Amino acid sequence: MSLRQFIEQARQAGYLIEIRREVSPHLELARVAAAVDGRPVLFRHVAGSEFPVLVGAGSAREYYALGLGVPLEQLMGKLTDALANPRAPEIVANGVCQEVIERDVDLSRLPILTHLPTDRAPYITAGVAVICDPDYGRNVSFHRLMVTGPRTLAARLVEGRGTDTAWRKCGDGLPVAICIGNSLPVLLAASMSPPKGVDELGIANAMSPTPLVQCKTVDLQVPAEAEIVLEGYITHQLADEGPFLDLTETMDFIRQQPLIEIHCITHRQAAIYQALLPGKLEHKLLMGTPKEPTIFAAVNEVCQCRDVEITPGGTSWLHAVVSIVKRGPDDGRKAIEAAFKGHGSLKHVVVVDGDINIHDPAEVEWAIATRFQADRDLVVLSDQPGSSLDPSAAHVPGQKTHTAKMGLDATIPWGAKRADYEKVRYEPVDMSEYEQDKEAL
Ligand SMILES: Cc1cc2nc3c(=O)[nH]c(=O)nc-3n(C[C@H](O)[C@H](O)[C@H](O)COP(=O)(O)O)c2cc1C
Repeated sequence: MSLRQFIEQARQAGYLIEIRREVSPHLELARVAAAVDGRPVLFRHVAGSEFPVLVGAGSAREYYALGLGVPLEQLMGKLTDALANPRAPEIVANGVCQEVIERDVDLSRLPILTHLPTDRAPYITAGVAVICDPDYGRNVSFHRLMVTGPRTLAARLVEGRGTDTAWRKCGDGLPVAICIGNSLPVLLAASMSPPKGVDELGIANAMSPTPLVQCKTVDLQVPAEAEIVLEGYITHQLADEGPFLDLTETMDFIRQQPLIEIHCITHRQAAIYQALLPGKLEHKLLMGTPKEPTIFAAVNEVCQCRDVEITPGGTSWLHAVVSIVKRGPDDGRKAIEAAFKGHGSLKHVVVVDGDINIHDPAEVEWAIATRFQADRDLVVLSDQPGSSLDPSAAHVPGQKTHTAKMGLDATIPWGAKRADYEKVRYEPVDMSEYEQDKEAL
């Protein structure tokens, strides 16, 4: 399902907010979108640009289910399946993303947002970069992009990740195509870190058909139904990038990062520009959701895993709740160790039984309160490799971040009488029967 089709479905489902009043991309639009975080918002009139702006397409799990055409309960299964079984996308001769071709590049015509008063320049935040690694083939990932001129962007390339390692191999610059206005499957696939050589667009295509079209000026293929594509090269010229708000809702610092030169822009007629708010729900869910299947798979190797949530309160990156079917005394502890293997940046994990709704933080806390004893059920690991995003971790320039990790086994103790640990619930009633009586009085 393309982004256009998703917008239509979101409108029909009552999720979409449409703003018809003209809004400035300089600070105002981000402020309005932040005020309704968790809802997709279409800004029809953006000052200084012909393009409308969509924010928040991925700001709730329900929208991913909608965009993938599955019930919410099947979302994790669908992601797990697509990650394990990518399917090569069809290559088509013509794509709507090339209805308009502009070789006279001027990035200021796009409604690129300035998010916060501390930002040094406007940033493209929902751009999905397609590159080709000389050894491993296509890699697709998000990169925040700071506008540095009418044809140039400074790109944040996290060291050691797919784009960065390919760029280091290509001394003359690395061809890149930045797709803006992507389907939910493309957004999710771009957030995944499959093993090197696995094509993220094959994963997107396994979620929902994602035909590709050849770019006009670089030897790359992009989703034919993208709204806007910026074609160019990641050069070896460096520029200051940042400061910029990150996932943890804290400020990331200035780094020397590569400049991208854009040589051609292609787009749909009346294209929709897509943005996401750094640190807000869409950023969090896109980062965290693709790690749920990898934790699920790792836990499932050591015991039966029922479900996983990477929680927004834990920045959607550092905390997870794992639900298991406990079949032995050590299953909780084994699940903790496996969860850390399934997501290397995970810092704290809580393991619960299947009667706990892992999507309700109060229920998870209840399980900790009633089933967990710190001197029996706590796992603490010191000096572990951790997330570069965690301000409280130990950061040494040029070295992997180190952190402590903690796992809480909040499952019912093995051998205990289950009834002693189960929540006693009142019988449900049909309130309409009682309310009718009230009216009759
Ligand atoms: C919203 C969002 C923004 C991201 N921004 C960046 C970024 O600026 N730089 C970066 O290297 N990775 C960023 N990532 C992570 C990558 O998209 C991706 O998960 C990671 O690069 C995958 O690793 P790979 O390139 O080795 O496959 C971002 C992810 C999301 C979901």
